[in-house]
Amino acid sequence: MKIAVVGAGYVGLVTGACFAEIGNDVVCVDIDKDKIRKLNSNIIPIFEPGLEEMVIKNKQAGRLSFANDLKRAIKESEIIFICVGTPPKENGEADLSYVDNVARTIADVMDSYKVIVEKSTVPVETGNEVAKTIRAYNKHKVDFDVVSNPEFLREGSAVKDFMNPDRIVVGCESEKAKNIMKKLYAPLKAPIIFTDIKSSEIIKHASNSFLATKISFINAIANICELAGADVEKVAEGIGSDKRIGKAFLNAGIGYGGFCFPKDADAFVRIAEKLGYDFKLLKSVQEINNDQKKRFVKKIEKALWVVKGKTIGVLGLAFKPNTDDMRFAPSLDIITELQKDGAKIKAYDPKAMEKAKDFLKGITYCNNPYDVAKDADALVIVTEWNEFKELDLKRINGLMRHSLIVDGRNIYNPEMLKKEGFTYISMGRKEVV
Ligand code: UDX
Ligand code: UDX
Repeated sequence: MKIAVVGAGYVGLVTGACFAEIGNDVVCVDIDKDKIRKLNSNIIPIFEPGLEEMVIKNKQAGRLSFANDLKRAIKESEIIFICVGTPPKENGEADLSYVDNVARTIADVMDSYKVIVEKSTVPVETGNEVAKTIRAYNKHKVDFDVVSNPEFLREGSAVKDFMNPDRIVVGCESEKAKNIMKKLYAPLKAPIIFTDIKSSEIIKHASNSFLATKISFINAIANICELAGADVEKVAEGIGSDKRIGKAFLNAGIGYGGFCFPKDADAFVRIAEKLGYDFKLLKSVQEINNDQKKRFVKKIEKALWVVKGKTIGVLGLAFKPNTDDMRFAPSLDIITELQKDGAKIKAYDPKAMEKAKDFLKGITYCNNPYDVAKDADALVIVTEWNEFKELDLKRINGLMRHSLIVDGRNIYNPEMLKKEGFTYISMGRKEVV
């Protein structure tokens, strides 16, 4: 089928490339001319495993193209995916102005039946607002359907997640749109859950909020374990082995970041409020999450006693491994706090340093973890990149001024660190000196 994907960001680019991969003709459109120029020169502006090869292959096959001309893309497509940004407003609500802008443009130019799919994470009732907007501006008075099709892509595994979804959620109100979406997704051979539009929009927010809740829950348990002298990793294993709970998203640490959980939780709290419900549970999830970063900084301050003038090496800047995304990354608050304490920061991240430079000033960016460790008074683990799990700890110890590791992602075994002569502090586990 002929598809237009509006917004070639983390979600739109993956969505467009994968739809091309399964045989559709896709044009990805973006207002960011530089982004489109790069994509037309085979420069992929984001890091996602497998994305670069997929984009280049499908461009060469003539199934995937990139353009700035939104109107032309709309005219020539049967299905239009809205993947533009829905960034948080000051009050936490999602800014839907970009979605509205795209909806009005579609209404202005479409002169034949289209399915308009909202892929961006949007508050419940956005689908109906988009439909109302298109009806109001529907210059050629053509028939159309609006569909909600939320994405469940994790950064760092977005291509894999798209091609192997646990389920596809489609909120639509017409048989015609339902059949088109069934045909579109058929090659993925995954279960499709058809709902009304509002339920589909709620599924997306509820899904992200539940995952965030699991993370804050295990972090709260980690804090109790520290006080009790228990081991949160063992507790997570013990509870996660119950299929009703499940092992995933029970990794205690400095909490969640990224462009989804923080903003989607804010938006969901606001949506509930506007509907007349005080979402206390989700507010506590957010509070625990914000508190984790502060607790982590306190651990570093306590271990160093005086932070001012000390050199702190930071391993990992991206909000999670296998991505270069720095949006709402825990490293931002943590490093800013340590700089306020007067620490000198050295940092390394395998993929995110270029993007980090826009967010973090006044730090020394190193080319590898060993340069970060050199002359450091403390080494802190912020993102659990695999390469940090295989470090030569003897060499690290020899390079550091003080053998202290504060691990925000529990990537090391405390007994092993003790054997190597480190003071090792982690999250939800006993301190080892
Ligand atoms: C976006 C939404 O922000 C998020 O809520 C949803 O879950 C998935 O889609 P993401 O892809 O990470 O997330 O956003 P971003 O990387 O900012 O990409 C949005 C793209 O849309 C940008 O490239 C931006 O240039 C483009 N855009 C924005 C348009 O093409 N037109 C607009 O009017 C506004
Ligand atoms: C999330 C959802 O997983 C995905 O379904 C949705 O479409 C977008 O938001 P993403 O934000 O890309 O994906 O990454 P995810 O792997 O969910 O991690 C989110 C944050 O939670 C990261 O900061 C990660 O470090 C943190 N996290 C994750 C934990 O702290 N503990 C865990 O056990 C899992």
